[in-house]
Amino acid sequence: MKSEMENDILKVLVTEEELKGRITELGAELYERFHGKNPLFLGVLKGSFVFMSDLVRACQVKSDVEFIAVSSYENATTSSGRVKIVHDIQQDITGRNLIVVEDILDSGNTLAFLSEYFKTRGAASITIVTLLDKPSRRTKAVTADLAGFVVPDEFVVGYGLDYCQQYRNIPYIGVLKPEVYSR
Ligand code: PRP
Repeated sequence: MKSEMENDILKVLVTEEELKGRITELGAELYERFHGKNPLFLGVLKGSFVFMSDLVRACQVKSDVEFIAVSSYENATTSSGRVKIVHDIQQDITGRNLIVVEDILDSGNTLAFLSEYFKTRGAASITIVTLLDKPSRRTKAVTADLAGFVVPDEFVVGYGLDYCQQYRNIPYIGVLKPEVYSR
């Protein structure tokens, strides 16, 4: 398929086929852990929207879906450290088993903040599922319960992940050419 974004991509890190295969495995694992428990899939917007839609279909448990939107990068390439809730959850999560769905776990700022927040809102359990894990950049003591792929410290885009709000619609995970973000 033609893509006007391809010129900005240095290399493909995770192909569409690899994404599909791994998400099938994650869905099966979540099914084992959560069938009969009516979990709430809680996607962290915006980055998780593509992963979330594939993950919920890969896991046929009786469940519902919710979103929260946060922002900490504010168009920069490194986290500002301040997490802002841009759009809050729209339902009571007291006593619920949460499956928190993220596109990437980087410094850990976002999930450290959100885990605390969901606890104060009364969640019974919090399970963190991230598509990508970049442990080399962690500054907060946060670990994912399930991670799709461990990635090196490179600027990744696609499959929901952005640079300056762009490239989210690329169907694979790619590394952005450095000249794009140093422009
Ligand atoms: C990205 C990503 C995670 C967070 C991870 O969100 O979606 O939520 O950063 O980084 P951290 O572990 O260093 O906190 P971003 O703030 O870029 O917003 P977005 O989801 O709208 O792209």
